[in-house]
Amino acid sequence: MAQVALEGIHKVYPNGFEAVQTCSFVIQDGEFVVLVGPSGCGKSTLLRMIAGLEDITEGTLRIGDRVVNDVDPADRNIAMVFQNYALYPHMTVAKNMGYGLKNRGISKTEIDAKVQEAAKMLNLTDYLDRRPSQLSGGQRQRVAMGRAIVRQPDLFLFDEPLSNLDAKLRNQMRIEVRALQRRLGTTAVYVTHDQVEAMTMADRIIVLNGGRIEQIGTPKEIYSTPASTFVASFMGAPPMNVLNATVSSDKHVTLDEGLELPVAAPAASSGPILVGIRPEDLTLGEGTTPFDVQIVEELGAQRLLHGTLGGQAFSVSVNKDHEAGTGTIPVSITPGAVHFFSREDGFRI
Ligand SMILES: Nc1ncnc2c1ncn2[C@@H]1O[C@H](COP(=O)(O)OP(=O)(O)O)[C@@H](O)[C@H]1O
Ligand SMILES: [Mg+2]
Repeated sequence: MAQVALEGIHKVYPNGFEAVQTCSFVIQDGEFVVLVGPSGCGKSTLLRMIAGLEDITEGTLRIGDRVVNDVDPADRNIAMVFQNYALYPHMTVAKNMGYGLKNRGISKTEIDAKVQEAAKMLNLTDYLDRRPSQLSGGQRQRVAMGRAIVRQPDLFLFDEPLSNLDAKLRNQMRIEVRALQRRLGTTAVYVTHDQVEAMTMADRIIVLNGGRIEQIGTPKEIYSTPASTFVASFMGAPPMNVLNATVSSDKHVTLDEGLELPVAAPAASSGPILVGIRPEDLTLGEGTTPFDVQIVEELGAQRLLHGTLGGQAFSVSVNKDHEAGTGTIPVSITPGAVHFFSREDGFRI
C-alpha cells in the first residue's frame, strides 16, 4: 500500500503536443481517486506516466517513499486493469490470473492458493478452467481484476475498465470494484470519461480539461461547488443550467434578454457574469419567474422539463409525481443554490 505524489508533472509528446500541463497532487494511502474528463483531455497519459508506460517530461513522481521516474514499470509494484482486459486467449482463467506471479518465480503451490483466494472474492471459482472466450464480458473483466489482485500491488491503476460492458453490468461492476478496493485497502487511481462512475466510486475526483486540472475534490464538493462552468456542466446529468446575465450597479441580476432573477448578486462582482442553477434547485408552480416548458422527458423516478427561462435554454427536474406539462409555469429558485461564474474565463466567482 502506498501514497502517490506528483510534483510538477508535465507531459509533452515527442511531436511537441502538450498532453498534460504542469500538475501536482497527492493520493493518500488507501484512497480511491478518479481522473475524469472528456475524451482526449489527458487522463490516460497521466495514468500511463504513473504506471511507467510513458516518460515523464518534467516533474517528480513518488510511489511510497521512492522516486520512480526512472523505475521500470515491472518494478513499481503496481497492477493495471484496462478496458480491453488484455487476457491471454489460449490460457485458462487460472493461468491468466497467475501468469504474472509465475514470471516472478513464485512457487506453484503459492500461486494456486492466491488464485483460489482471488477467484473466491470475484465469484470465479467455477470458471478457473475456462478460457476467456468462454466467459461473459463481466466475467472477463473480473479475471483482469483477479490478475491485478493476486499480485498484491501497492497501487491499482484502472483505465476505463468498465467501458466495454453494457449499462446494467457496468453499474453492478462499479459497486464490486469499489467494494473490493475497500476490502483490500489498496490505493487506486481510476480513469473514466463517465461522470456517474466518478461520482459514485471516488473518494476524491480530479477533473481534467484539455490537459489541465480544473478541480480536485470529493464528489460532494465537486457537485455542490464546481470550480468552473466546465466542471458544472460535465458533472451532473442533466447538467447545470448556465445563463448569461448582468449584475447592475445596484446589485440586480438580469438575464441578457431582460428578465430579472430574484437572487442575491455576488458581492465582488458587477457587469456581465454567468449564473448557474442545477435543474433540481427550482420549485415549479411557486415564485414569479416564468419558465416556458417545451418538452417533457419521462425518466421513471424523475421527469425532466426542457424549455427556456428569459429566452435562454433551461431544464428543470421534478419527481415523478409532479404533473407539470408544456406551457408557461412560474418557478422559484432555491435560496443559496445559485452559482456565479466569470464570463471571461468560466471560473467561479
Ligand atoms: N503518443 C502520442 N503522441 C502525440 N499525442 C498523443 C499521444 N498519445 C496521446 N496523444 C494526445 O494527447 C491527448 C491526450 O490523450 P489521452 O491521454 O489518451 O486522453 P484521454 O485518455 O483523456 O482520452 C490527446 O489529444 C491525444 O491525441
Ligand atoms: Mg484514455
